Amino acid sequence: MLDRIESTRKSFDEDLSKVTDLASLEELRIKYLSRKGLITQIVDSLKDVPKEEKPKAGKAVNELKNHTNNSFEALKLKLESEAVNKEEFIDLSLPGVEKTIGSKHIITQTLDEIKNIFKGLGFSVYEGPELESDYNNFTALNFAEDHPARDMQDTFFVADKFLLRTHTSPVQIRLMTSKQPPLRAIMPGKVYRNEAVSAKSYCLFHQVEGLYVDTDVTFAELKGTLVAFVKQFFGQDVKYRFRPSFFPFTEPSAEMDIWWEPKGKEGRWMEILGCGMVDPNVLKNVGIDPEKYVGYAFGMGIERTAMRKYGIDDIRILFDNDKRFLTQF
Ligand code: PHE
Repeated sequence: MLDRIESTRKSFDEDLSKVTDLASLEELRIKYLSRKGLITQIVDSLKDVPKEEKPKAGKAVNELKNHTNNSFEALKLKLESEAVNKEEFIDLSLPGVEKTIGSKHIITQTLDEIKNIFKGLGFSVYEGPELESDYNNFTALNFAEDHPARDMQDTFFVADKFLLRTHTSPVQIRLMTSKQPPLRAIMPGKVYRNEAVSAKSYCLFHQVEGLYVDTDVTFAELKGTLVAFVKQFFGQDVKYRFRPSFFPFTEPSAEMDIWWEPKGKEGRWMEILGCGMVDPNVLKNVGIDPEKYVGYAFGMGIERTAMRKYGIDDIRILFDNDKRFLTQF
């Protein structure tokens, strides 16, 4: 018995000296100290020791138990505190982690700039939903049921009589039916058209609508406001022109062009917005008396305006989410 105790102690000490981490310490515990471990087996076999030898053997077993338990606990403490220190160790010589800061998309930046200019001209900002009724998008805006203009704007119908708005003009209807004149607001947002995607057009783009309704609004004021806007936005020396045009919801109607000279290419006129005096039929549709009130409205495309300002020649790049492009602004 005493020999067995001695050899177990030796092999325990040897195994203990090879323990380097908590995993191998656990293996040691199972081998010696668990319920079926070598030490437990020795304790159990004490009962078979002859009576005379018992006191000596018992003492030796107790010593072995104490020795193995204490050595085990001491090493466990040491390894555990080492593991914690390893986790908390900070290497001050490592290079830092650079945080990348996001930036506003160029369209959002452009919208912000447009909003600020019009706020300075006395306009408030009003918004409507992208899912619209056929009534607000077309009928209330004086598009006849079978008017070919309905086809002009290739529409995404979502359900019978509901669609993704093809322009921001339905927000004019929402504003005029919810508030009484005088009204002066711009209405920014996304619009959708079922068009083939190309460098020039995309199935989704942004517009900013403008509306001014009061008792004495004139076409001259409309022109003055838009000229003030393009000068602030593009610069004082911007070249612009107005052309007569047609929209079912304005009469008379016009379009405004900006002179564009892309680098290394021949200059040309580029249309940036449609505008006109609110058609009296539209005022009637929203319950505003056309004998008492007049209004002007305009609607401009944001992508084109941003492309002109920043010299971008392919609209698709604005929707690609390519960081190499986005981080330039
Ligand atoms: N809604 C027109 C379009 O999308 C633009 C417009 C708005 C024209 C307001 C006149 C008045 O083309």
